Amino acid sequence: MRLLDAELISSREILPAQWLQAYHAPSLAGSVRAGQFIHVRTPDYSGLVLRRPFSVNTVDRATGTVTIHFRVTGKGTEWMSRARQGERLDILGPLGRPFEVNPRTRHVLLVAGGLGMAGVRALADEALEAGRRVTLLFGAASAAEVYPTSLLPDEVEYVVATDDGSLGHRGYVTDLVADYEAWADQAFACGPEPMLATLARLARGRDERLGVAHLGRKGGRTRSSAASGSAQARRRAWLQVSMEQNMGCAVGACLGCVIHGVDGPVRVCREGPVFAAEEIAWGEPA
Ligand code: FES
Repeated sequence: MRLLDAELISSREILPAQWLQAYHAPSLAGSVRAGQFIHVRTPDYSGLVLRRPFSVNTVDRATGTVTIHFRVTGKGTEWMSRARQGERLDILGPLGRPFEVNPRTRHVLLVAGGLGMAGVRALADEALEAGRRVTLLFGAASAAEVYPTSLLPDEVEYVVATDDGSLGHRGYVTDLVADYEAWADQAFACGPEPMLATLARLARGRDERLGVAHLGRKGGRTRSSAASGSAQARRRAWLQVSMEQNMGCAVGACLGCVIHGVDGPVRVCREGPVFAAEEIAWGEPA
């Protein structure tokens, strides 16, 4: 984690009230991994003092560029949407734990709801660079809010669901998972918590639906023997989720981002934002 100065090099509104901004931040681009986030503070003259968390959307290590994708939701993001080329932001990052892809995984399923695209977008690039195949399921309220295909690599199979049926499947993005659960070696998701909870429920029943047997190993070790919360355990999970939560400090001190894990409270900024789906106590209020 570092405190660094990043220069805005491009900014555009890609969807209503949703912006894509590119920053020149070579040290961040050289170290960040898909699933991690940054904590951003606008300049003193903006009059805003709080930092705001953003997922790293894409990374170009060759040019030292990272992009963030955000929706205007308040004063800070509104200020950022008006920032011009050359503006400098104070960035803390990379923060949090990244997605963990099993080295044996060949087929990667990404599931995003709305702005959750920002949480999984970088993993599409990382997976393709590693020679994996990627299918991305995306859900939005209507066609007007569907992430543009022009912002995705050509190699990604992109499947869309909209609540009103104005584009793609009519219904929820989770309806599409059944068609891919046998194909996918691992799945990674980001979006509204009800969407993630539904995916977690589907993941729990997947092995039974597919007739996957769990065989013990000599010495009593099983495939789930890695410590819960470890990178190794996440690497073995079929579904990993990136949790979205309001953050204060983003470094584990304020406890403002705590959610219920099955083994007790967990901080989204430190133990997450990426978790194996089975680490989360779905449905319990924080
Ligand atoms: S935001 Fe302060 S502990 Fe996570």
